[in-house]
Formats: sequence, C-alpha cells, structure tokens
Amino acid sequence: MYPLKKGKFASQAHVGLPEGTYEEEHGRKGFYGKSAHLYHTHPPTDWIRFEGKLRPHCLDLNQLQPTDQRDPEGAPVAFLGNNDVRLYVSRRAKPMPFYFRNADGDELLFVHRGEGTVETDFGTLSFEPGDYLVLPRAVTYRIVPSTEDNFFLIVESKTEFEQPEKGLIGQTSLYDPGIIVTPDPSPASPGARSPRGNSEWEVRIKTEDEFSKVFYPFNPLDVVGWKGDLTVWKINLRDIRPIMSHRAHLPPSAHSTFVTEGAVVCSFVPRPLEQDPDALRVPFYHRNTDYDEFIFYHDGDFFSRDNIKAGMCTLHPRGIHHGPHPKALANQHKKTFTDEYAVMLDGLNPIHVLPDGEKVEWKEYWASWSPQPAAK
Ligand SMILES: [Fe+2]
Repeated sequence: MYPLKKGKFASQAHVGLPEGTYEEEHGRKGFYGKSAHLYHTHPPTDWIRFEGKLRPHCLDLNQLQPTDQRDPEGAPVAFLGNNDVRLYVSRRAKPMPFYFRNADGDELLFVHRGEGTVETDFGTLSFEPGDYLVLPRAVTYRIVPSTEDNFFLIVESKTEFEQPEKGLIGQTSLYDPGIIVTPDPSPASPGARSPRGNSEWEVRIKTEDEFSKVFYPFNPLDVVGWKGDLTVWKINLRDIRPIMSHRAHLPPSAHSTFVTEGAVVCSFVPRPLEQDPDALRVPFYHRNTDYDEFIFYHDGDFFSRDNIKAGMCTLHPRGIHHGPHPKALANQHKKTFTDEYAVMLDGLNPIHVLPDGEKVEWKEYWASWSPQPAAK
C-alpha cells in the first residue's frame, strides 16, 4: 500500500525538489519512524505572529550566572527541563571544596570551555573543551578546574546514558568504542588533607533536589580497584567521525552519540556537505512531531542559523516548524563544508523553559526566519 504519492513530489526525499517548493519531512519517532514529505509553496516558517505559549525559543546561556561561578560552595543553574531530563549550566571557577553525588539522575557533562580534572570513585579523568563526561547516577565526584573561565553544559537524566544502536553502519562507525576513556583507580594519598584543609571530608548528596551532607574522617575516594560494566567514561567531539552521504542529506539521528529512555543526544561536527547537485545541503523543514529539540551551539560557524553565537541554545517544541534560515537556504549551494560543533538533545516529552532560562531568552527569536530578522 505504501508509499503513496500525490501531486508534485521529489522522486526521493531531500533530492531534486520540484521547482519553487520547500520540502517538509513530517515524520514520527524522531527520524526513525514513518514519514511523509510535503512540498510547500511557502517556507512553513514564514509566519507573521504567534498567540499562545507555543513558539521557538533561543536562550543566551552566556548570560546565566550560576552560583558556582563566584562561590566554590555554589551550584549549577537549571534552565530547561521535563520529567526525563534537566539541563544546567555550571561556570565553576574554583575546585569544589566538597565531593558531590547526584542521586536524582545520571549526568552527562559537556565541556564547552575550561580544563581540569574530575576526581571520582573510579579514578580521575582530565577534561578539556569538547569532552563529554558520563557520570552515572550516585557516583561521587569532585570537579577541579585548572582554568577560571569555565562553562559546562550538564544534562541530568532519570535514566542511563547508553551508546546508540549502530545497526547497519557497524559498531565502529560514528566513534569506535575503543576511543572511550575510563579512569584508573587513583585513591587519595593517606595523610592528605581535605579540600578544606582540615581532616573532615564532605560528600554533598542531591536527592529530590535537596542537598544532604555526609562527613567522613577520611577521603571517601579511597577505591584501589574496580571491575564491571558500569563506570565513568569520556569521549571528545573530535573523536566523533560523522557519517554522511554525498548524495542525500542524512537526518540528525545519523549523528546520535547517547540515548536514554527519554532523550537522544546527537553531536554535530564538521563534515563536507552533500556533493550531488540536486541534494539538499541544509536541514529540511520539520515540525518535531514526537520530540522537542534542543541544540547547544559550541563552536564554529552555525551555517543554518542567523544571529546564533557560541554558548547560545535553541529549543524547538513539537508542533511548530523549524528549518534553515533564509540566508542559509539561499546560499546552500555556495558552501562545500560545514564547520559547526553543536550538541543536540531530542526530548520524548515536552521540554519547558525554566524561570532562570526565561531571564536570558531572546524573545524575538520566533521572527528570525523572516527575510529581515528581528534585531537581537
Ligand atoms: Fe530539527
């Protein structure tokens, strides 16, 4: 019975669109499920106004001021979230004077800016820009930055961060699991003083968004060995080797890095653009039928979005369209390469802008697809 075809359509998705049309992919289950391609005569982002709460969001996360930026005792600030995931920014400038344990969720910590180490039950890992650190729920850790101007994007998830199923493309595609770094046991030296310079070690535990504290007369990071398939691990964006097709634009799901029960995290890294003269080189329009889509812009030239700078993020809720900005659409055949680095998170359930996020929102973002974008 399927596929059905009616009217004017391209013979294959994202290739050789009928003259004067704008292609939309109307798909289910992110980019994994059934889909239809609709050939519009206007860009579906050419709206003139909105009523109600539903609209695209853009936040300038550079303007957030988490308390850990000025106070070593402080904490990250949450700016978006739902019951599956919550997103935070940490700007921690000084080493944590305490050890931290998040019993509310697993953490994926993306290093946008900064260097240092993270001490954990399993040992110590160094970090640098572009690193993803996976910190399973209830692991005890301490961030020890060696730089002061730091910026971490933290995804807290109720369920574990797993590696994606790689299916037809094979287990070593996107990234070879052999590139994953895990820590070696590095127990604290006997006799060493606590981070506060005394003989009492604090473990601060977050449960149901409240902090409790446990104190020890010794360093609790005293593990001399570990085994098993649960650990802290890291991978850097530069280790991700994206797959692409020279003849057709692949969907964002081709860039999946982590999956949870409520979200998919994808990494966009530099790659050549499609070479086929008929192939679309920018993301197709879509209305996010089953997911809300968050993108954090890490580095490079954000080709398909005007007025977006590193450290900003966008949230495109289900039900309304998004797609390339007009300049990107017009210039797509002049470019041969994309050099953007970005982290995308697709949320299965609606993601909300939290009060601290609203304070740094670019309120006119919804109008930025018009030929003369609203001033920021
Ligand atoms: Fe999208």
